[in-house]
Amino acid sequence: MDQNVFIPGFSKLDRNKKQDLLLKGFENPVKAAAVVESYRHSDPAVQKLHDEFSENTITNYFLPYGVAPNFIVNDKMYMVPMVTEESSVVAAAARSARFWYSKGGFNTEVNELIKNGQVHFIWSGDPLILKETFPELKEHLLEGTRNITANMVRRGGGITDIELKDKTEEMDGYFQISAGFDTRDSMGANFINSCLEEFAVILRDFVGSDRRFKNGDKDLRIIMSILSNFTDNCLVTSVVRCNVKELQEIAGDMPAEEFALKFQQAMLMAGVDVHRAATHNKGIFNGIDAVVIATGNDFRAVEAAGHAWAAREGRYKSLSSCSIENGMFSLSLTLPMAVGTVGGLTGLHPMAKLSLELLGNPDSSELMGIIASAGLASNFAAVSSLVTKGIQSGHMKMHLSNILNHFGASDMERKAAIEFFSTRKVGFSAVEKFLNNFRVNND
Ligand code: MEV
Repeated sequence: MDQNVFIPGFSKLDRNKKQDLLLKGFENPVKAAAVVESYRHSDPAVQKLHDEFSENTITNYFLPYGVAPNFIVNDKMYMVPMVTEESSVVAAAARSARFWYSKGGFNTEVNELIKNGQVHFIWSGDPLILKETFPELKEHLLEGTRNITANMVRRGGGITDIELKDKTEEMDGYFQISAGFDTRDSMGANFINSCLEEFAVILRDFVGSDRRFKNGDKDLRIIMSILSNFTDNCLVTSVVRCNVKELQEIAGDMPAEEFALKFQQAMLMAGVDVHRAATHNKGIFNGIDAVVIATGNDFRAVEAAGHAWAAREGRYKSLSSCSIENGMFSLSLTLPMAVGTVGGLTGLHPMAKLSLELLGNPDSSELMGIIASAGLASNFAAVSSLVTKGIQSGHMKMHLSNILNHFGASDMERKAAIEFFSTRKVGFSAVEKFLNNFRVNND
């Protein structure tokens, strides 16, 4: 297909037409069609469900769904579902979970469950009148959104606070109506955005109809109404603790005390150097995103919140920290996290539902604790490997299977390769060389 040809109304075409158009871009459309078809679900009802999740769905894109067993979080045992394409992530989380299992596991705490959102607007009138009338406006905002909030209030949530924020020091005329929302066990994005869009209408009506505003709504330019993904009133902490001596189990040839010190210094480095901090936090999100995806939650929102939190003091830093005191090693992770266990994809995607059931149908706080613990487990595994034998040996062992697939290895070749590389360094060309030799000798 000529990629420069504009396609009007693509979304309105039926799936077969969309697929035909897409296939025109391939050198071998028959082969491409076979791939597309093979990834569609054989049950039309399941496929229909997936088709409707997103616009212009042609087929599905599989990612591995794995589990990390033996996670103890707040004295409760979990088998944690993880969706990730990175070969070592589940193994690393499971290794950490196994290590902490006999040391009290992960202990978590959620401070609050308040999300927030803003109506962003420019006000070119008298700021004082805006501030003076705000208590009245606030009543209107609460009253005018009762039809949207009634259900949430019945479930124990709703709007927790509304304030006027003067941002004029940062930008000329910039004000916000900023509100807090308790969305109970839902992530609450639709609820929050519906309230905020209604706030904007109410604000315009208020300013436009009250004679204290001399120019009516002419001084008001509403820019946008949207939730914030920086959910800094929705924090979760996960902590693990053990005696330094117990670290010997993973310290290998190194004395446990030396391991603990190196580990702590690695953590400090991620606190002062942004290049290290980004990679350090990526290792945390290896675990976090995998569980967020498995449970049908929004990993972009969770990532955005985490990275904004990491930069909250004006410099991007590690999300986790470590201490060694009186012979005790402690590692902890705190980050904001907006996830739900009801609503959205959690109730629609069969695999998300299955994941939540596997976790015992937790409420949102419990899920936050599990997810943060998966993040901390990944971080612990990554830094432990980095300060001892490095990550490549383990990583490449896990990656061996991908390399063997790349070269189309048969079951027999695969078995021989796994045995051969159990004592050797895995690498792309080393595997290729092994297979070439093996194929010559076993022809
Ligand atoms: C790789 O996916 C993650 C790590 O780079 C994390 C880290 O460096 O801490 C190993």
